[in-house]
Amino acid sequence: MKQFSTISDLRYFLASGHKKGVSVGFVPTMGALHEGHLTLIRRSKAENNLTVCSIFVNPIQFNNPEDLEKYPRTLSRDAKLLEENGCDVLFAPDNAEMYPPEKKEPFGLEFGMLDKVMEGKFRPGHFKGVAIVVKKLINIVQPTRAYFGKKDFQQLTIIQNMVHQLALPVIIVPCETVREKDGLAMSSRNMRLTIAEREIAPTIYQILCKAKEKTGKLPVRELKEWAIKKIQENHLMRVEYFEIGDKETLMPLETWNFKNRAVAFTAVFLGDVRLIDNIELFS
Ligand code: PAF
Repeated sequence: MKQFSTISDLRYFLASGHKKGVSVGFVPTMGALHEGHLTLIRRSKAENNLTVCSIFVNPIQFNNPEDLEKYPRTLSRDAKLLEENGCDVLFAPDNAEMYPPEKKEPFGLEFGMLDKVMEGKFRPGHFKGVAIVVKKLINIVQPTRAYFGKKDFQQLTIIQNMVHQLALPVIIVPCETVREKDGLAMSSRNMRLTIAEREIAPTIYQILCKAKEKTGKLPVRELKEWAIKKIQENHLMRVEYFEIGDKETLMPLETWNFKNRAVAFTAVFLGDVRLIDNIELFS
């Protein structure tokens, strides 16, 4: 596996492949890789001639400085995992490379309500930070396909919207959430859970599954209230939001009129670790 830390070296390496029409799959990450990321790498490998993974803990998408500071950084372990899973190229730039100090990031995109609800409401500025870095990474790598997990459903929707708005020449490939055996959605944040928190963390997905069973049987508002109460029965968990939204507009649903488009989304604190998950209610 080749490893680059500068944009110019990566571009130089990719140029000949691009010229020959080689298909490039791209998996952008913030590192602390787990099976979820590696599933994306393997899918990219199966669908493209060359797979590029980026590892960059993007400071401008963190609205909480403590979260940024505590974000796990495990580059040499990550590089080994990527190598073992057949990744061809690792791009791991530092902050100065991605955000040269003399330049201000231009940003002319508007996402309407997509970045105002749920994660957007509780993490102001987060999705602008994500969109800026993903656009920049796509410009650098010029991939044929880019792979994103559905665990970050709202992020995926916003990236699809950006690619559409800017007509970026890339295919966005949504990938199913990868879960631990007990149902907990894989996340780099899971490694920050204490043993007691890790034990109860699967409750989040269990309640999402039960909510799916109850879909259409209770009014939307009652189902949301039920789910929040049920999650918080465990005193280690605090629900930041539990929302039922439209799978495309992400707007909260008031009734089951468009039930085949309903997705339940939640963000839950276990101690100071914030986990998110979602389930398509009528899939
Ligand atoms: O999902 C992530 O890990 C990040 O938000 C991403 C897409 C790599 C952008 O920094």
